[in-house]
Amino acid sequence: MKFFVDTADIDMIRDLSEKGMVDGVTTNPSIIAKSGRDFIEVLTEICSIVAGPVSAEVTATRADAMISEGRKLAAVASNITVKVPLTWDGLKACRALTGDGHMVNVTLCFSANQALLAAKAGATFVSPFVGRIDDMGYDGMELIAEIRQIYDNYPALETEILVASVRTADHVKQAALIGADVVTVPPKTLQGLAGHPLTDAGLAAFLADWEKSGQSIG
Ligand code: G3P
Repeated sequence: MKFFVDTADIDMIRDLSEKGMVDGVTTNPSIIAKSGRDFIEVLTEICSIVAGPVSAEVTATRADAMISEGRKLAAVASNITVKVPLTWDGLKACRALTGDGHMVNVTLCFSANQALLAAKAGATFVSPFVGRIDDMGYDGMELIAEIRQIYDNYPALETEILVASVRTADHVKQAALIGADVVTVPPKTLQGLAGHPLTDAGLAAFLADWEKSGQSIG
């Protein structure tokens, strides 16, 4: 399963990349606004650090304008993935932009039928938002399992399932168990995956015993 980081925080992207944990990056208008930086400038910087897909979202709502914005964003770097919302206009823009040879991530997916439409439109990725479904009192991971089953039923559908709105370590684990292609994870959640109290306690005991032995490797 590929790990994308859901952020425009350059220091975090660099740090996690050095650890080999960043196969790609996702952004959205809220993340860019939070960064306080110029959209194109921050995208250019992210693409200079990360070789994998970097999602950049259009903000137009009509297909023609989305296509035009998508082409501008795609010109920033060859690894830009244009992100469009799961609306009929977004699906039309998806078809046109993939026709140009660009990668497209169809976002704001909340149902299996929407995911089926994204795949039919030739999306490179579809982004179901599990955390926001959980927020409504349903189980977001059930949607991932449904999409996985549907896509597996029709191998001609090549769209990758990119699990988004990930909030917890359990989301990451469940996505991997189901066989999602990608999870996009906020840096803090990704950093939390390595932590375990038994790892800390075990390491402390090993180091204490080593100290008592009086030996040194170096
Ligand atoms: O990847 C989509 C993500 O940024 C949305 O996350 O936590 O705002 O639902 P959240």
